[in-house]
Amino acid sequence: MGWLLILSLALLAIVTKALYNVYMHPLANFPGPKSYAASSFPVAFAQLNGTYHLFTQKAHEKYGKVVRISPNELSFISSAAWNDIFAKRNGGPPLPRDRTFFNDMLVDKKTLTMADTENHARLRKAMNPAFSPRALALQEPILQKNVNLFMHQLQKLATQGQQLDLRLWYNYITFDLIGDLAFGESFGCLETSAYHEWVQFVVDYFYIATLLQVVHRFRPLNKLLAALIPSSLTKQKEDHNKLTAEKHEHEIDVSSINKLVYLQAVIQEALRIFPPITNGFIRQTCAGGALIDGLFIPEKTVVNVSHWSAYHSESNFTRPAEFLPERWLGVDAQFHDDAKDVFQPFSVGPRNCIGKKFALDNIKLILARTLWRFEIRMSPDSRARYSDEQRTYVSFHQPPLLVNLTLRQDKAN
Ligand code: HEM
Repeated sequence: MGWLLILSLALLAIVTKALYNVYMHPLANFPGPKSYAASSFPVAFAQLNGTYHLFTQKAHEKYGKVVRISPNELSFISSAAWNDIFAKRNGGPPLPRDRTFFNDMLVDKKTLTMADTENHARLRKAMNPAFSPRALALQEPILQKNVNLFMHQLQKLATQGQQLDLRLWYNYITFDLIGDLAFGESFGCLETSAYHEWVQFVVDYFYIATLLQVVHRFRPLNKLLAALIPSSLTKQKEDHNKLTAEKHEHEIDVSSINKLVYLQAVIQEALRIFPPITNGFIRQTCAGGALIDGLFIPEKTVVNVSHWSAYHSESNFTRPAEFLPERWLGVDAQFHDDAKDVFQPFSVGPRNCIGKKFALDNIKLILARTLWRFEIRMSPDSRARYSDEQRTYVSFHQPPLLVNLTLRQDKAN
């Protein structure tokens, strides 16, 4: 009898809260499905399922440029929203990060990610010189050394006629490079053709991050729900905290690749179709609310621009689902009205990506050298599955990218 009473009261509380959320909440007049407005369950389910990007996209397709995707959360897809949410506001600080996402169970308090505005500016100033074009130019030998090993390993597999999972090899080169540059020592993934334990952790961490984000949606039950996450997953975080026109291939360097306009367009289009930070990093409005994309947004509202939804929306891009690098070349009239300013895969404002140039130089160098040396053929299996089986946990959780590489004639090193 006692249990029945408790259960009935809990049910009543849930229904009352849902009705309040839909009809009386300060965001009640914003467009979006009623079920999303009522509770965090639909968004939490989409996050756990890895389909958050599609969930948000579908809502934008139906309701327009601003959508209420959970009781206290609005998603935007316009260029103006980028500036209003992420850039400095009238010279003042940008909106702070939302603690649902950036919570201290997820990221250590002392990191750049969690620093308040003042400390962030200080830390960022200290780090900026390491990412300047001049500093990156000095690091190019390290970049080339790692790419050489990457090319060597791919060539070995290509000559053996083996099919390989290019997704793994891109991860190996990315992490080896970062290890070499940040810690003076590579993780040895390319050498061993396998993930180093720490790298495996980072790959899995995005999934754990999503679980922790979901449990934080249900405060004050978050600590209780977090206890339900298998300890094998959360232990990984603790372990981590303890661990600290034809030319010659050697002519392909950072300065020469930066002149390749079409390569640049291909990479931009790839980052548009598959933005690595798929849903963006949410912010929260401060006391007094904020004006975003011409709309007044009440205080303490979670706000965001969803990369995926913005880049896949017909309101921003012509033929948004198609991979068409020429849209970035400025020559084809059908793309003249594309909202190119909305494309911000590295975010904007004082907390945007410090590694943008480094990342783009890497991607261009690896792609240019791989294409120069190999014919790449995607396996029919990957071709059929690759796009449809993408799931997102902060970034993409990708299916294998199985390819066959054939050495182009006279291109062996
Ligand atoms: C294609 C590759 C990459 C993409 C799309 C990307 C994207 C982003 C985005 C969207 C943010 C903003 C986070 C926010 O708004 O809260 C960010 C921040 C950051 N990124 Fe990247 N990133 C990439 C590669 C890299 C690399 C290679 C490095 C380092 C070598 C790096 C280091 C950072 C750091 C340190 C921050 C935090 C900056 C701060 O809080 O001041 N990123 N990145």
